[in-house]
Amino acid sequence: MVSVEKAAEIIRGGGVVAFPTETVYGLGANALDPVAVARIFALKARPAFDPLIVHVSSLSGMLPLIKGPVPALAIALAERFWPGPLTMVLDKSDATPDIVTAGLKRVGIRAPRHPLALALLEAAGCPIAAPSANKFGRVSPTTAQHVRRQLPELECVLDGGPCQVGIESTVVALHDDGFELLRPGFVTPEQLLEVAPQSGRNTAADLVSPGLLLSHYSPEKPVYIEGEAQLRADTDRGVYLSFSGKAPEGYARVEYLSRDSDLTEAAANLFGALHRLEESAEAFMVVEALPERGLGVAIMDRLRKAAYRYQQNDPQTH
Ligand code: TXA
Ligand code: MG
Repeated sequence: MVSVEKAAEIIRGGGVVAFPTETVYGLGANALDPVAVARIFALKARPAFDPLIVHVSSLSGMLPLIKGPVPALAIALAERFWPGPLTMVLDKSDATPDIVTAGLKRVGIRAPRHPLALALLEAAGCPIAAPSANKFGRVSPTTAQHVRRQLPELECVLDGGPCQVGIESTVVALHDDGFELLRPGFVTPEQLLEVAPQSGRNTAADLVSPGLLLSHYSPEKPVYIEGEAQLRADTDRGVYLSFSGKAPEGYARVEYLSRDSDLTEAAANLFGALHRLEESAEAFMVVEALPERGLGVAIMDRLRKAAYRYQQNDPQTH
Protein backbone atom coordinates (compact mmCIF):
# COMPACT_ATOMS: atom_id res chain seq x y z
CA MET A 1 0.00 0.00 0.00
CA VAL A 2 1.57 3.27 -1.14
CA SER A 3 1.24 6.27 1.19
CA VAL A 4 0.45 9.84 0.17
CA GLU A 5 3.87 10.87 1.53
CA LYS A 6 5.68 8.33 -0.65
CA ALA A 7 3.67 9.37 -3.73
CA ALA A 8 4.43 13.05 -3.04
CA GLU A 9 8.12 12.24 -2.75
CA ILE A 10 8.05 10.53 -6.16
CA ILE A 11 6.30 13.55 -7.70
CA ARG A 12 8.86 15.95 -6.16
CA GLY A 13 11.65 13.76 -7.54
CA GLY A 14 10.32 14.06 -11.12
CA GLY A 15 8.49 10.73 -11.19
CA VAL A 16 4.97 9.68 -12.14
CA VAL A 17 2.23 8.30 -9.88
CA ALA A 18 -1.37 7.23 -10.43
CA PHE A 19 -3.84 8.71 -7.96
CA PRO A 20 -7.60 8.75 -7.42
CA THR A 21 -9.80 11.74 -8.16
CA GLU A 22 -13.57 11.86 -7.75
CA THR A 23 -13.96 11.46 -11.55
CA VAL A 24 -11.37 8.89 -12.72
CA TYR A 25 -7.82 7.94 -11.73
CA GLY A 26 -5.13 10.33 -12.98
CA LEU A 27 -1.52 9.73 -14.02
CA GLY A 28 0.32 12.62 -12.41
CA ALA A 29 3.66 14.44 -12.50
CA ASN A 30 4.96 17.87 -11.44
CA ALA A 31 3.31 20.22 -13.95
CA LEU A 32 6.23 22.65 -13.81
CA ASP A 33 8.81 19.97 -14.74
CA PRO A 34 8.71 19.28 -18.50
CA VAL A 35 10.86 16.14 -18.24
CA ALA A 36 8.51 14.64 -15.63
CA VAL A 37 5.51 15.51 -17.79
CA ALA A 38 7.17 13.84 -20.79
CA ARG A 39 7.16 10.59 -18.79
CA ILE A 40 3.35 10.73 -18.63
CA PHE A 41 3.14 10.95 -22.42
CA ALA A 42 5.53 8.01 -22.78
CA LEU A 43 3.68 5.80 -20.28
CA LYS A 44 0.28 6.48 -21.85
CA ALA A 45 1.56 6.35 -25.44
CA ARG A 46 -0.26 9.66 -25.73
CA PRO A 47 0.34 11.84 -28.80
CA ALA A 48 2.20 15.06 -27.97
CA PHE A 49 -0.60 17.22 -29.41
CA ASP A 50 -3.13 16.30 -26.68
CA PRO A 51 -2.95 18.78 -23.76
CA LEU A 52 -3.01 17.71 -20.10
CA ILE A 53 -5.18 19.04 -17.28
CA VAL A 54 -3.24 20.60 -14.38
CA HIS A 55 -4.57 19.81 -10.90
CA VAL A 56 -4.37 22.35 -8.06
CA SER A 57 -5.74 22.32 -4.52
CA SER A 58 -7.39 25.76 -4.60
CA LEU A 59 -8.09 28.83 -6.69
CA SER A 60 -4.82 30.50 -5.67
CA GLY A 61 -3.00 27.43 -7.01
CA MET A 62 -3.97 28.70 -10.48
CA LEU A 63 -1.86 31.85 -10.19
CA PRO A 64 1.57 30.50 -11.24
CA LEU A 65 -0.06 28.70 -14.19
CA ILE A 66 -2.07 31.50 -15.78
CA LYS A 67 -1.31 34.89 -17.31
CA GLY A 68 -2.40 37.75 -15.05
CA PRO A 69 -4.95 37.64 -12.24
CA VAL A 70 -7.71 35.04 -11.95
CA PRO A 71 -10.64 36.31 -14.09
CA ALA A 72 -13.96 37.05 -12.34
CA LEU A 73 -15.65 34.31 -14.34
CA ALA A 74 -13.14 31.73 -13.05
CA ILE A 75 -13.71 32.89 -9.48
CA ALA A 76 -17.49 32.56 -9.86
CA LEU A 77 -17.24 29.08 -11.39
CA ALA A 78 -14.70 27.90 -8.80
CA GLU A 79 -16.90 29.13 -5.95
CA ARG A 80 -19.73 26.99 -7.22
CA PHE A 81 -17.94 23.90 -8.57
CA TRP A 82 -14.49 23.58 -6.93
CA PRO A 83 -13.15 21.37 -5.64
CA GLY A 84 -14.96 19.28 -8.23
CA PRO A 85 -15.31 18.01 -11.78
CA LEU A 86 -14.90 21.26 -13.74
CA THR A 87 -11.77 22.08 -15.77
CA MET A 88 -11.27 25.70 -16.82
CA VAL A 89 -9.09 26.56 -19.81
CA LEU A 90 -7.33 29.95 -19.45
CA ASP A 91 -4.38 31.86 -20.95
CA LYS A 92 -1.20 30.22 -19.70
CA SER A 93 1.79 31.80 -17.99
CA ASP A 94 5.35 31.45 -19.29
CA ALA A 95 6.08 29.17 -16.32
CA THR A 96 3.63 26.54 -17.60
CA PRO A 97 5.69 24.26 -19.86
CA ASP A 98 4.56 23.95 -23.49
CA ILE A 99 4.50 20.17 -23.22
CA VAL A 100 1.63 20.43 -20.69
CA THR A 101 -0.56 22.42 -23.09
CA ALA A 102 0.67 20.63 -26.23
CA GLY A 103 1.90 23.97 -27.53
CA LEU A 104 -1.46 25.71 -27.03
CA LYS A 105 -1.49 29.19 -25.48
CA ARG A 106 -4.08 28.11 -22.91
CA VAL A 107 -3.95 25.70 -19.99
CA GLY A 108 -6.70 23.53 -18.49
CA ILE A 109 -6.87 23.60 -14.67
CA ARG A 110 -9.06 21.94 -12.05
CA ALA A 111 -9.18 21.28 -8.29
CA PRO A 112 -10.21 17.66 -7.70
CA ARG A 113 -12.58 16.80 -4.86
CA HIS A 114 -11.05 13.49 -3.73
CA PRO A 115 -9.38 13.76 -0.27
CA LEU A 116 -6.35 11.69 -1.40
CA ALA A 117 -5.85 13.89 -4.47
CA LEU A 118 -6.00 17.03 -2.32
CA ALA A 119 -3.63 15.50 0.25
CA LEU A 120 -1.20 14.56 -2.53
CA LEU A 121 -1.28 18.10 -3.95
CA GLU A 122 -0.62 19.57 -0.50
CA ALA A 123 2.21 17.14 0.26
CA ALA A 124 3.87 17.49 -3.17
CA GLY A 125 3.69 21.29 -2.98
CA CYS A 126 3.40 21.69 -6.76
CA PRO A 127 0.62 21.64 -9.36
CA ILE A 128 0.15 18.13 -10.80
CA ALA A 129 -0.44 17.58 -14.53
CA ALA A 130 -2.54 14.45 -15.00
CA PRO A 131 -4.50 12.85 -17.79
CA SER A 132 -6.72 9.86 -17.06
CA ALA A 133 -4.48 6.89 -16.12
CA ASN A 134 -5.27 4.69 -19.13
CA LYS A 135 -3.39 3.89 -22.32
CA PHE A 136 -4.24 6.45 -24.99
CA GLY A 137 -7.66 5.88 -26.57
CA ARG A 138 -8.67 3.18 -24.08
CA VAL A 139 -11.29 3.13 -21.31
CA SER A 140 -10.62 5.48 -18.36
CA PRO A 141 -9.89 3.80 -14.99
CA THR A 142 -12.22 4.16 -12.03
CA THR A 143 -10.37 1.75 -9.70
CA ALA A 144 -6.69 1.17 -8.87
CA GLN A 145 -7.05 -2.32 -10.42
CA HIS A 146 -8.09 -0.78 -13.76
CA VAL A 147 -4.89 1.31 -13.67
CA ARG A 148 -2.68 -1.68 -12.87
CA ARG A 149 -4.20 -3.72 -15.68
CA GLN A 150 -3.47 -1.08 -18.34
CA LEU A 151 -0.19 0.22 -16.90
CA PRO A 152 1.46 -2.78 -15.20
CA GLU A 153 4.90 -1.14 -15.40
CA LEU A 154 3.80 1.74 -13.16
CA GLU A 155 5.38 1.48 -9.69
CA CYS A 156 3.18 3.81 -7.69
CA VAL A 157 -0.63 3.61 -7.66
CA LEU A 158 -2.36 5.38 -4.77
CA ASP A 159 -5.48 3.35 -4.04
CA GLY A 160 -8.53 5.38 -3.05
CA GLY A 161 -11.15 2.78 -3.91
CA PRO A 162 -13.72 3.22 -6.68
CA CYS A 163 -14.24 6.78 -8.01
CA GLN A 164 -17.57 8.23 -6.89
CA VAL A 165 -18.37 10.34 -9.94
CA GLY A 166 -17.00 7.89 -12.52
CA ILE A 167 -17.00 10.19 -15.57
CA GLU A 168 -14.43 12.87 -16.39
CA SER A 169 -14.63 16.56 -15.62
CA THR A 170 -16.47 19.01 -17.83
CA VAL A 171 -13.93 21.12 -19.78
CA VAL A 172 -14.77 24.77 -20.49
CA ALA A 173 -12.76 27.54 -22.13
CA LEU A 174 -13.30 30.91 -20.45
CA HIS A 175 -13.82 33.98 -22.66
CA ASP A 176 -14.72 37.61 -21.88
CA ASP A 177 -18.39 36.93 -22.68
CA GLY A 178 -18.77 33.58 -20.89
CA PHE A 179 -17.84 29.90 -21.05
CA GLU A 180 -17.44 27.63 -24.05
CA LEU A 181 -18.05 23.89 -23.60
CA LEU A 182 -15.09 21.87 -24.89
CA ARG A 183 -15.94 18.47 -23.37
CA PRO A 184 -19.19 17.37 -21.70
CA GLY A 185 -18.65 15.93 -18.22
CA PHE A 186 -20.21 15.54 -14.80
CA VAL A 187 -21.08 19.25 -14.44
CA THR A 188 -23.90 19.88 -16.91
CA PRO A 189 -24.33 22.95 -19.17
CA GLU A 190 -27.56 23.67 -17.28
CA GLN A 191 -25.60 23.92 -14.00
CA LEU A 192 -22.94 26.13 -15.63
CA LEU A 193 -25.61 28.47 -17.00
CA GLU A 194 -26.81 29.11 -13.46
CA VAL A 195 -23.45 30.83 -12.84
CA ALA A 196 -22.34 32.26 -16.19
CA PRO A 197 -23.53 32.84 -19.76
CA GLN A 198 -22.40 30.72 -22.68
CA SER A 199 -19.85 32.45 -24.92
CA GLY A 200 -20.57 33.33 -28.53
CA ARG A 201 -16.98 32.34 -29.35
CA ASN A 202 -16.21 28.93 -30.75
CA THR A 203 -12.64 27.75 -30.54
CA ALA A 204 -13.56 24.08 -30.06
CA ALA A 205 -13.74 23.62 -33.80
CA ASP A 206 -10.05 24.60 -34.14
CA LEU A 207 -8.80 22.48 -31.26
CA VAL A 208 -6.50 19.64 -32.10
CA SER A 209 -7.51 17.48 -29.18
CA PRO A 210 -7.85 13.71 -29.42
CA GLY A 211 -9.99 13.83 -26.29
CA LEU A 212 -12.63 15.22 -28.58
CA LEU A 213 -12.20 12.65 -31.36
CA LEU A 214 -15.06 10.38 -32.33
CA SER A 215 -13.23 7.17 -31.53
CA HIS A 216 -11.99 7.16 -27.93
CA TYR A 217 -12.66 5.19 -24.76
CA SER A 218 -12.43 2.09 -26.97
CA PRO A 219 -12.80 -1.24 -25.18
CA GLU A 220 -11.11 -4.23 -26.80
CA LYS A 221 -14.52 -5.71 -27.64
CA PRO A 222 -17.43 -4.31 -29.64
CA VAL A 223 -20.01 -2.08 -27.98
CA TYR A 224 -23.34 -1.37 -29.69
CA ILE A 225 -25.92 1.20 -28.63
CA GLU A 226 -29.45 -0.15 -28.90
CA GLY A 227 -31.34 1.76 -31.57
CA GLU A 228 -28.12 3.12 -33.14
CA ALA A 229 -26.56 -0.05 -34.55
CA GLN A 230 -27.72 -3.18 -36.25
CA LEU A 231 -27.98 -5.75 -33.45
CA ARG A 232 -26.21 -9.11 -33.66
CA ALA A 233 -28.01 -12.43 -33.79
CA ASP A 234 -25.61 -14.20 -31.38
CA THR A 235 -27.08 -12.59 -28.26
CA ASP A 236 -26.02 -15.59 -26.13
CA ARG A 237 -22.40 -14.37 -26.49
CA GLY A 238 -23.19 -10.83 -25.41
CA VAL A 239 -23.70 -8.69 -22.30
CA TYR A 240 -26.71 -6.40 -22.12
CA LEU A 241 -26.08 -3.17 -20.20
CA SER A 242 -29.36 -1.98 -18.78
CA PHE A 243 -30.17 1.57 -17.65
CA SER A 244 -33.87 1.37 -16.86
CA GLY A 245 -33.92 -2.10 -15.29
CA LYS A 246 -35.10 -3.72 -18.50
CA ALA A 247 -33.47 -7.15 -19.03
CA PRO A 248 -34.13 -8.65 -22.47
CA GLU A 249 -34.08 -12.44 -22.86
CA GLY A 250 -31.29 -14.30 -24.59
CA TYR A 251 -28.15 -12.47 -23.42
CA ALA A 252 -25.37 -14.38 -21.64
CA ARG A 253 -25.48 -11.77 -18.89
CA VAL A 254 -27.32 -8.57 -17.99
CA GLU A 255 -25.49 -5.79 -16.15
CA TYR A 256 -27.02 -2.64 -14.75
CA LEU A 257 -25.77 0.93 -15.10
CA SER A 258 -28.84 1.60 -12.99
CA ARG A 259 -32.05 -0.31 -12.27
CA ASP A 260 -34.25 2.77 -12.29
CA SER A 261 -32.80 5.23 -14.83
CA ASP A 262 -30.63 7.13 -12.33
CA LEU A 263 -28.07 9.11 -14.35
CA THR A 264 -25.67 9.78 -11.45
CA GLU A 265 -25.54 6.09 -10.61
CA ALA A 266 -25.08 5.26 -14.32
CA ALA A 267 -22.08 7.63 -14.59
CA ALA A 268 -20.44 5.97 -11.58
CA ASN A 269 -20.90 2.48 -13.08
CA LEU A 270 -20.09 3.25 -16.73
CA PHE A 271 -16.33 2.66 -17.10
CA GLY A 272 -16.40 -0.28 -14.65
CA ALA A 273 -18.90 -2.03 -16.94
CA LEU A 274 -16.64 -1.46 -19.96
CA HIS A 275 -13.58 -2.77 -18.07
CA ARG A 276 -15.54 -5.86 -16.95
CA LEU A 277 -16.53 -6.51 -20.56
CA GLU A 278 -12.82 -6.60 -21.50
CA GLU A 279 -12.07 -9.04 -18.68
CA SER A 280 -15.13 -11.24 -19.22
CA ALA A 281 -15.73 -14.27 -21.44
CA GLU A 282 -18.44 -12.45 -23.40
CA ALA A 283 -17.75 -11.24 -26.93
CA PHE A 284 -19.59 -7.91 -27.07
CA MET A 285 -21.95 -5.52 -25.27
CA VAL A 286 -25.27 -3.97 -26.18
CA VAL A 287 -26.13 -0.82 -24.23
CA GLU A 288 -29.60 0.56 -23.59
CA ALA A 289 -29.61 4.18 -24.83
CA LEU A 290 -29.92 6.89 -22.17
CA PRO A 291 -31.93 10.11 -22.44
CA GLU A 292 -29.68 12.95 -23.63
CA ARG A 293 -30.43 15.54 -21.04
CA GLY A 294 -28.40 16.67 -18.04
CA LEU A 295 -25.69 14.18 -17.21
CA GLY A 296 -27.08 11.86 -19.92
CA VAL A 297 -25.29 14.03 -22.52
CA ALA A 298 -21.82 13.22 -21.14
CA ILE A 299 -22.62 9.52 -20.65
CA MET A 300 -23.92 9.12 -24.22
CA ASP A 301 -20.85 11.04 -25.48
CA ARG A 302 -18.57 8.42 -23.88
CA LEU A 303 -20.74 5.51 -25.05
CA ARG A 304 -20.81 6.75 -28.67
CA LYS A 305 -17.03 7.09 -28.63
CA ALA A 306 -16.70 3.57 -27.19
CA ALA A 307 -19.10 2.27 -29.84
CA TYR A 308 -17.83 4.36 -32.75
CA ARG A 309 -15.77 1.70 -34.47
CA TYR A 310 -18.72 -0.69 -34.42
CA GLN A 311 -21.47 1.61 -35.63
CA GLN A 312 -20.34 1.46 -39.20
CA ASN A 313 -21.76 -2.00 -39.95
CA ASP A 314 -18.36 -2.83 -41.37
CA PRO A 315 -17.56 -6.51 -40.75
CA GLN A 316 -13.83 -5.71 -41.02
CA THR A 317 -13.89 -3.84 -37.75
CA HIS A 318 -15.84 -6.41 -35.72
O1 TXA B 1 -11.80 14.30 -14.75
C1 TXA B 1 -10.82 14.56 -15.45
O2 TXA B 1 -10.78 15.56 -16.18
C2 TXA B 1 -9.64 13.57 -15.41
C3 TXA B 1 -9.04 13.60 -14.02
C4 TXA B 1 -7.78 12.77 -13.92
O3 TXA B 1 -8.82 14.92 -13.63
N1 TXA B 1 -8.67 13.93 -16.40
C5 TXA B 1 -8.85 13.74 -17.73
O4 TXA B 1 -7.74 14.07 -18.50
O5 TXA B 1 -9.88 13.32 -18.22
P1 TXA B 1 -7.57 13.62 -20.03
O6 TXA B 1 -6.20 14.00 -20.39
O7 TXA B 1 -7.95 12.21 -20.19
O8 TXA B 1 -8.53 14.56 -20.81
C6 TXA B 1 -8.24 15.94 -20.83
C7 TXA B 1 -8.89 16.65 -21.97
C8 TXA B 1 -8.03 16.69 -23.22
O9 TXA B 1 -8.20 15.60 -24.09
C9 TXA B 1 -8.53 17.96 -23.85
O10 TXA B 1 -9.70 17.65 -24.59
C10 TXA B 1 -8.89 18.85 -22.68
O11 TXA B 1 -8.99 18.02 -21.57
N2 TXA B 1 -7.86 19.87 -22.44
C11 TXA B 1 -6.86 19.87 -21.54
N3 TXA B 1 -6.11 20.98 -21.63
C12 TXA B 1 -6.65 21.71 -22.63
C13 TXA B 1 -6.33 22.96 -23.23
N4 TXA B 1 -5.28 23.69 -22.85
N5 TXA B 1 -7.11 23.39 -24.23
C14 TXA B 1 -8.17 22.64 -24.64
N6 TXA B 1 -8.51 21.46 -24.14
C15 TXA B 1 -7.78 20.99 -23.14
MG1 MG C 1 -8.63 10.52 -20.92
